[in-house]
Amino acid sequence: MLARSSLRSARSLGASARSSASRIGTRSASTANGPAEEAATWKSTFAASAATAVAIGSIGWYYHLYGRNVHAMTPAEEGLHATQYPWEHEKWSKTFDHQALRRGFQVYREVCASCHSLSRVPYRTLVGNMMTVDEAKALAEENEYDTEPNDEGEIEKRPGKLSDYLPSPYKNDEAGRAANNGALPPDLSLIVKGRHGGCNYIFSLLTGYPEDPPAGAVVQSGLNFNPYFPGTGIAMARVLYDGLVEYDDGTPATTSQMAKDVVEFLNWAAEPEMDERKKMGWKVLAISSVLMALSIWVKKYKWATIKTRQIVYNPPITSSRPAAPRPGAKQ
Ligand code: HEC
Repeated sequence: MLARSSLRSARSLGASARSSASRIGTRSASTANGPAEEAATWKSTFAASAATAVAIGSIGWYYHLYGRNVHAMTPAEEGLHATQYPWEHEKWSKTFDHQALRRGFQVYREVCASCHSLSRVPYRTLVGNMMTVDEAKALAEENEYDTEPNDEGEIEKRPGKLSDYLPSPYKNDEAGRAANNGALPPDLSLIVKGRHGGCNYIFSLLTGYPEDPPAGAVVQSGLNFNPYFPGTGIAMARVLYDGLVEYDDGTPATTSQMAKDVVEFLNWAAEPEMDERKKMGWKVLAISSVLMALSIWVKKYKWATIKTRQIVYNPPITSSRPAAPRPGAKQ
């Protein structure tokens, strides 16, 4: 009863709304013909157009001020874009080539370590990656480190241990700058992650020094021309030359071979967890695909009864009279 009466009142509400709408329509239609109404229409059109123009103009002005990318340098000064090389270790199913890491570490030690620190790499991480425990211990012992203060407060020297970090070539940044014409050789621990282009950029940088700067290029004194370095004038001179190191495994030490090895090594220094991460990725894929298949099967199993059931509606048998009274209606 309640449902029907509310239905009726809703219907009458709709009817009154409809009639009022038609009333408004009639009124505006009857008054739209006068000149005053025409002027008002023109005014409102003008106001809407002006408001739109102001809105578009202010968006344009705001974009002009803040929307565009601002470059500190022109694209030419940003440096040549590094070539994309097919790095084997960057493929998602590949690990580092550990022989290349060993060679790359040799290049770092023999060439780069005189200027660049690698201060986030402890000797212990070399174990199992490119050295045995004994080799790493022997390497650590080649350097001296400060002891903890003794009873008299004196700090002494002791040979390095596996838990020590690779030594830096300079005592501090100022000494590094002083030795390199004012330019600080950056720490190389995270350089692969810290430079746009990563491995490609560093490989291009190391192998990209031309014999002579191209005609018209201005190179400041004390700087070297390298098209890949932003600004093209880099304080580091070319450091890799064919045959500079002698690899233990007999690999020919060409410039590009050494650059490739040292870049792979620096990539390891920046991402020592990469091999583990990729192995873990395979496990995750394997386990989650089994769980996925299982959950699809469970879903199908649970829904089977619901999806395959048949609902049959048997209408109540009515008499042949056309308008039967609805059940529950007042007679
Ligand atoms: C004689 C010292 C010296 C040696 C040896 C040296 N570098 Fe450098 N390196 C520098 C200096 C100085 C800079 C800073 C350049 C600058 O800011 O203009 C630099 C900068 C760099 C940069 C950073 C470039 C950038 O985008 O900021 C990388 C990467 C680099 N060196 C890699 C190496 C590698 C790898 C080796 C070994 C194969 C090496 N360097 C050997 C002195 C050296």
